[in-house]
Amino acid sequence: MNAQSNTSSTRVDEIVDGIFRISTPVPPSVVPGGFTFNQYLIRDDEPLLFHTGPRMLFPAIRDAIERIVPVTKLRHVAFSHVEADECGSLNQFLAAAPQAAPLCGRIAAMVSIADLADRPPRALADQERLAIGQHTVQWLDAPHVPHGWECGFLADVTTRTLLCGDLFTQFGERHPAITESDILEPSEAARIGMDYYAHSPATGRTLERLASTAPTTLALMHGPAWRGDGATLLRSLASRLEPAPAA
Ligand SMILES: [Fe+2]
Ligand SMILES: [Fe+2]
Repeated sequence: MNAQSNTSSTRVDEIVDGIFRISTPVPPSVVPGGFTFNQYLIRDDEPLLFHTGPRMLFPAIRDAIERIVPVTKLRHVAFSHVEADECGSLNQFLAAAPQAAPLCGRIAAMVSIADLADRPPRALADQERLAIGQHTVQWLDAPHVPHGWECGFLADVTTRTLLCGDLFTQFGERHPAITESDILEPSEAARIGMDYYAHSPATGRTLERLASTAPTTLALMHGPAWRGDGATLLRSLASRLEPAPAA
């Protein structure tokens, strides 16, 4: 996906205590319907970035991070799975932040990141927790949900925020930083139109594991962040993904 956009319009909003949404709009002339690329920064003793954004957005995202913490202080560069918008500028961030290391699941580390990254990754096992100061994060394996064997998510257990990557992706370039409005139907329109899910037989079980963490904030990569009953919303998504019964 072409990531060209009006990078001067990259905005920064604190969506929950210590977690900042960095969002760059992509106009409809580039992506029909418009789009957003979001990253999330947890400001703490060991600052953590979730999603680097595509390589072409590196200068804009670096400058946006600088409004919150010096980029040189980043310690963890985390992401859900291996794609340009997830980790395209990983090595640029590693170069800018001498103490930083990639942070990802074990599959991503084994298959890709141990080779692609300029420094060795810190690989987290499923359910493994990492204290980064006031916040503690937990890695949750989510193979093939929505796509990618190596896929997983990071939950900030301190604020019950699920950094949910491509889940609930929706179009549009203008969204509030955080909303309590429905995000299921707009994201279902995008999902059905693009069919970006792998449709693994384990999708329902994986979404149920995410729901069982009872998140109260969902931090979307494409769209607004959302506040509400995350368990119910994730179970609603699971029900929409269930295969139709055989005729
Ligand atoms: Fe993706
Ligand atoms: Fe994405």
